[in-house]
Amino acid sequence: MRVPFVDRVGEIEFLSELAERGSPFPLFIYGPEGCGKTRLLEELRDSLKAQGFLVLYLDAEESDLGRALRGSSRELVDAVASVVSGFEGALGKVVALAIAKVVEAYEHRYRFRGKRVVIAVDEVVEGIGLGEVERYAKVLHDLARDVVELGAESILIIATTSEEASRDALSRHSYLHLSYLWNLGEEAFEELARALGAPRDAVEELYELTSGNPRALIDIATRSWRTGSWLEAIYAERIRPLRYERIVAAHVDDLERIVEDPDNASNADPELRKLLIERNLITYLGNPLTPSTRPRPSAEMGIGNEFAWQLNAYRLLIKDRLIPQLHRE
Ligand SMILES: Nc1ncnc2c1ncn2[C@@H]1O[C@H](COP(=O)(O)OP(=O)(O)O)[C@@H](O)[C@H]1O
Ligand SMILES: [Mg+2]
Repeated sequence: MRVPFVDRVGEIEFLSELAERGSPFPLFIYGPEGCGKTRLLEELRDSLKAQGFLVLYLDAEESDLGRALRGSSRELVDAVASVVSGFEGALGKVVALAIAKVVEAYEHRYRFRGKRVVIAVDEVVEGIGLGEVERYAKVLHDLARDVVELGAESILIIATTSEEASRDALSRHSYLHLSYLWNLGEEAFEELARALGAPRDAVEELYELTSGNPRALIDIATRSWRTGSWLEAIYAERIRPLRYERIVAAHVDDLERIVEDPDNASNADPELRKLLIERNLITYLGNPLTPSTRPRPSAEMGIGNEFAWQLNAYRLLIKDRLIPQLHRE
């Protein structure tokens, strides 16, 4: 299915300007699974490359080297190849961890002097692991300094993750910047839904269920717009397993309060909050990538000021199916 790119105008503009200026701080972007972090990086990569930036895009989770580096500037792919030749297995991870060597190899062959550089490490936590990411953020920070010392005109390093649990650890550090990307806004979502052929009268309900999440929309499209089938699947995969969690059974009241208003996560049982965060069901709304990225608080959509349900469907399935079930048990 070919999916046309919609919106993200503000985000692309903001990131392009940041790339132009350069930044000593690696920018970490987190956000709901499927909200469009990878797609945003891919579009940014292509746009900046066309403007003459030297761009390394790396999918840290991908094991195939060609796919892991898709769309990167040719000379950087070459530098990577010289570093990882002979390595097998999880090459995305290998390249991520050997990033300083890649920079060295590039400098040796081509020189950074006068170049505008962008390094984007996608799926960074998924690729290198939660335990490694703090140390890695420091590596990226040092790398930005080194590349500037080698004479580059500017550098911007971006890393993304869907692992909500990494946010806490990363937020403690002053040598990186941390922002979130949210799902698509209502208009952009509608544009995408129409482009994918959604029935006109279904768009509003689709938005209410998916919170504007493009991956969820595409998933429903591949099920011929049978939202029931999609809801069943996410219930089975994401929600029903909560029934067997001791912490959920022990704090059903808190769960109900978070369903009514996600901001109640702030004063709920900490273990329950941690579980919902680690399962990527709720997200903390810290610093939005751009002011327009911040979603509007809405009780019906499960969006508060501080916390939000990643997909409203999670909230609705917990409310309508899981909680009644837990009360019966
Ligand atoms: N702005 C957008 N316009 C059109 N499709 C999008 C947009 N953002 C994401 N998508 C599509 O939604 C799906 C999930 O996006 P992805 O970037 O993989 O999410 P993430 O990396 O945040 O998990 C992909 O198929 C992607 O092409
Ligand atoms: Mg991604």
